Amino acid sequence: MFNVNNIHQYIVLAPMEDVTDLPFRLICKKLGADLVFTEFISSEALIRNIDKSLKKMRFLPEERPIAVQIFGGNTTSLIESAKIVEDSGADILDINCGCWVKKVVNNDAGAAFLKDPDRMAEMVNSVVNAVKIPVSVKTRIGWTKDNINILEVAQKVQAAGSQFITVHTRTRDMGLGGIADWDWINRVKEVVSIPVILNGDVQTAEDVQRAFATTLADGVMIARGASANPYVFKQAKELMNFNTIITHPTAEDRINLCLEHLALSIEYKGDRGGIIEFRKYYTGYLKGLFNAAKVRQKLMTFDNFNDIKAALYDFLEELAQYETTYERNN
Ligand SMILES: Cc1cc2nc3c(=O)[nH]c(=O)nc-3n(C[C@H](O)[C@H](O)[C@H](O)COP(=O)(O)O)c2cc1C
Repeated sequence: MFNVNNIHQYIVLAPMEDVTDLPFRLICKKLGADLVFTEFISSEALIRNIDKSLKKMRFLPEERPIAVQIFGGNTTSLIESAKIVEDSGADILDINCGCWVKKVVNNDAGAAFLKDPDRMAEMVNSVVNAVKIPVSVKTRIGWTKDNINILEVAQKVQAAGSQFITVHTRTRDMGLGGIADWDWINRVKEVVSIPVILNGDVQTAEDVQRAFATTLADGVMIARGASANPYVFKQAKELMNFNTIITHPTAEDRINLCLEHLALSIEYKGDRGGIIEFRKYYTGYLKGLFNAAKVRQKLMTFDNFNDIKAALYDFLEELAQYETTYERNN
């Protein structure tokens, strides 16, 4: 069984709906993520055996340790779905108490729990008592900036049996905007003894290093930074271990990784779903490359692997020609 005491300077892939699916988790794992999270899965859908939700729970042994995240506003459903997650062999059951979107909070789920820390703690305790695997909570620092209650929340969820806590250092009303306030991490560390994972605005290897240097976080969790650049896990470890980043992926490296990821996507989702659902990742893989927007537009129209591969390799050649011309003229 996964021992949460192992959580020390962990670099964690965040849960992201429609992003941290099995293929993307495999890519991030290969590039050094210490712990990966599934996207959130509706507890109601799990107990109703909805195929799409059951598929979201699927993972491979090489992804371990893996946290499967559930959300919902009804404790009975959360308990039943937690048992389903446990039966799937997941290492950790994570409960979403931080999602800010209306359709979630209006059902008393996600960040809505922040409005009533006792309700959150009772729910967590009921889930903890229903399963043997470690249970964790991912939440935010508060509902609004005038009502930051993470210190109370953290103590209550620890007492309820949560084995670690991930704190997205924004309030619910900030959504994904504004600046995350990492200062809350040390304050949380003062009041709890369970591991605390910092989340919010960790985008680059330098951010990871700074987060560990300036806070007592036991781990950092990366969301948007990972979809923009999955190499961030490897680069962060290099920076921490050798004080320099060794991995500087070339355009060719990035395109090859993109194709490896696409092949996994097709393997696990089939030709059509695998290609259509993959389209959101092109932005990250092609970011900053000359004429990326043009090639991305073209890629959106293709529905088979070989056409995509050919277009990406043509693009690589164009890039090489552009660089040669640029060097000759400068
Ligand atoms: C596309 C997207 C989907 C997300 N889905 C989830 C989710 O399913 N569960 C969750 O706890 N947080 C979810 N989040 C929030 C992230 O896990 C994370 O808390 C937030 O993006 C802040 O981290 P960052 O600044 O590194 O992006 C999502 C964020 C994004 C951008």
